[in-house]
Amino acid sequence: MIKIAPSILSADFSKLGAEIEDIKAGGADYVHFDVMDGEFVPNISIGVPVLKSVRKVTDMFLDVHLMIDRPVRYAEVFCKSGADLVMFHVEADTAENIGEAIDIVRANGKKVGLSVKPKTPAAAIFPFLDKLDMVLVMTVEPGFGGQSFMYDQLPKIREFREEIDRRGLECELEVDGGVDPATAKLVKAAGANVLVAGSAVFGKPDRAAQINAIRNA
Ligand code: DX5
Ligand code: ZN
Repeated sequence: MIKIAPSILSADFSKLGAEIEDIKAGGADYVHFDVMDGEFVPNISIGVPVLKSVRKVTDMFLDVHLMIDRPVRYAEVFCKSGADLVMFHVEADTAENIGEAIDIVRANGKKVGLSVKPKTPAAAIFPFLDKLDMVLVMTVEPGFGGQSFMYDQLPKIREFREEIDRRGLECELEVDGGVDPATAKLVKAAGANVLVAGSAVFGKPDRAAQINAIRNA
């Protein structure tokens, strides 16, 4: 089953509760929540206080994407602030600390995911794959919404799909960056089952139509 995770990075933050209601009514599966620290990526977005507020107004699954250095420092606080799944980047720390961050999220009873930037090979995540609920392939350089989809990442999506299936894992395969009804078709064919879309959903007035167009592409 294909799941759609609109990224609230492209929402109107002055009426975030209403924006989330709108995508829920439109059939979205997850809320994708992008956290940026101005170090791991050249932008700063939202963090713990906003997550707590969002948690209070919705029962939707909160898919929290941490684009921050050394996420082991903040894994627990995001779990305790309302995340359903905490995702961080394999490039953001040593293998030992990434392993520790995974254990912290698990110990807090939340789902855990690992992401790769476009230049990072799939193999960087393979040692952790058995412990993960989700893998995220970035199809833009992380940091900003509204960028163009990187077609050269499609083989990496296929590589993850093959490895997840070969090991018989339940792990979800998410794609983030430049997903719209046209590129959605390609990432689904490559084996992704969770599609993040920021500008393609929040940039148009009819969110339900956009969500359906991406899901049924
Ligand atoms: C980018 C973020 C994405 C972003 C996607 O660093 O991780 O989630 O919001 O935006 P679009 O769908 O507009 O590329
Ligand atoms: Zn994201």
